Amino acid sequence: MIRHDSWLNSDELSKELMEFYMNEALENVGSVAIIDKDFRMVYINDKYADSLGIDKLKSLGKPVSEVIDNTNMTNVARTGHPELGVLYSRNGVNFIINKFPLTKDGEFMGIVGISTFQDDEKVASLRVRLDNLSKELNYYKEKNHRQNAAKYSIDDIISKNETMLHLKSLVYKVASTKSTVLISGESGTGKELFAHSLHALSNRSNMPFQRINCSTIPENLIESELFGYEKGSFTGALKEGKLGEFEVANGGTIMMDEVDSLPLALQSKLLRVLQEKEIRRIGGKETIDIDVRMIFTTNKDLLNMVNRGEFREDLYYRINVLNIAIPPLRERKEDIPGIVDRFIHKFNQELGMRVTGITSEAIKLLMSYSWPGNIRELENHIERAFIYSPGGMLGVEHFNLNNFVPVETSNEKAAVLNTDGRKLKDIVSEVEKKAIIEAMTKFSGNKKRAAEALGVDRSVFYEKMKKYEIT
Ligand SMILES: Nc1ncnc2c1ncn2[C@@H]1O[C@H](COP(=O)(O)OP(=O)(O)OP(=O)(O)O)[C@@H](O)[C@H]1O
Ligand SMILES: [Mg+2]
Repeated sequence: MIRHDSWLNSDELSKELMEFYMNEALENVGSVAIIDKDFRMVYINDKYADSLGIDKLKSLGKPVSEVIDNTNMTNVARTGHPELGVLYSRNGVNFIINKFPLTKDGEFMGIVGISTFQDDEKVASLRVRLDNLSKELNYYKEKNHRQNAAKYSIDDIISKNETMLHLKSLVYKVASTKSTVLISGESGTGKELFAHSLHALSNRSNMPFQRINCSTIPENLIESELFGYEKGSFTGALKEGKLGEFEVANGGTIMMDEVDSLPLALQSKLLRVLQEKEIRRIGGKETIDIDVRMIFTTNKDLLNMVNRGEFREDLYYRINVLNIAIPPLRERKEDIPGIVDRFIHKFNQELGMRVTGITSEAIKLLMSYSWPGNIRELENHIERAFIYSPGGMLGVEHFNLNNFVPVETSNEKAAVLNTDGRKLKDIVSEVEKKAIIEAMTKFSGNKKRAAEALGVDRSVFYEKMKKYEIT
């Protein structure tokens, strides 16, 4: 039989155990401090002393204000009431503190203060930290992927379009110069292909080719990614410091993708790099000479952004020294058969299939579509056709016709007009066509309602639909 009363009867044991329990309790309830009626430290637990980084024994007897900052004890002393649930923050951690008056025979003897983590706040701040970490992780994952991706060469740019051939000859011409190049064009038109070719054909081809996507890199990382930092320049910085992309790419090429999404503050820093050809690491004193070929890409109308005050004008002129403006696929449909052939070859290898070609009807179908996602979209459709095809020829039946709504997808795209060397008539036609397609999409192909919405006669509407071959 267990005898519960055995140790309770022993005074010695009970004292020792009670002391143990009291101590453990005081260490575990949180950070505990006790002061006497004159606000001098009487007790502080290990946990609290450690977190403050103070010598526990030396603190005893000292005025509380010298040991613990931002502690207000006077309220409790004056009122004799506890003060509960007061929030305060130390080193970025939020605490909740409770203070209780201690009395003996009704006389004020001192105060005990107990503070604990404020859980919700702690969880919230942990979540923010996790969010940031996972953003950073994704960024580095993507960066790693990009850096290991196979490089393209100029022969990968398939085209027989006149403008494109001209652009390709331009690449040969300027590859070995140090000129800054701006490659513009809608998404999926092959900007990256051009950037690679420029580097591969240059005398820098054995030096690094660094790619930075200004739109996916977290804003709090951009500066340190570009310029690097000296050791210990900010909390969270690596001990050894870090090289920025400019230094890593020194002697080679940097491609800054989607430069339009660079925050204004960094635009001015970038401008300085382009002008001075030197950088300074974060927290660094000296400047470092930089010899890199800069390639920028954008799918936005930068001049428009300049006019709206969203992009620095001086930077615009600095990066727009030499513009490679890649036309969208719908303006060079003659390229479709050649590119499709290339993709068939590619997917045969990648998927281990034996597709022998594509029927002329299927090519016709592909050429009737407007390809808002350009070559990348074409690539996706070919890949999907592979999945539906058993091998042999790709035919109309292997393409998902339901998804072939020939429309522009975003308003942003509709707003960007390529006016370079084009007649007003052609520009107006383009806008007209877009408007009709949009209205038809909006009203699910109801011509009457689409015509009404655009405020034109139905006969005029029909005529225009025929003219622009909208079905
Ligand atoms: N002329 C071309 N011939 C063959 N393949 C091409 C051609 N142009 C682009 N591609 C292919 O199309 C895909 C998209 O090209 P790329 O990534 O260069 O487009 P992008 O303009 O950089 O697009 P984004 O603006 O979305 O970054 C790639 O797989 C690329 O290899
Ligand atoms: Mg790209």
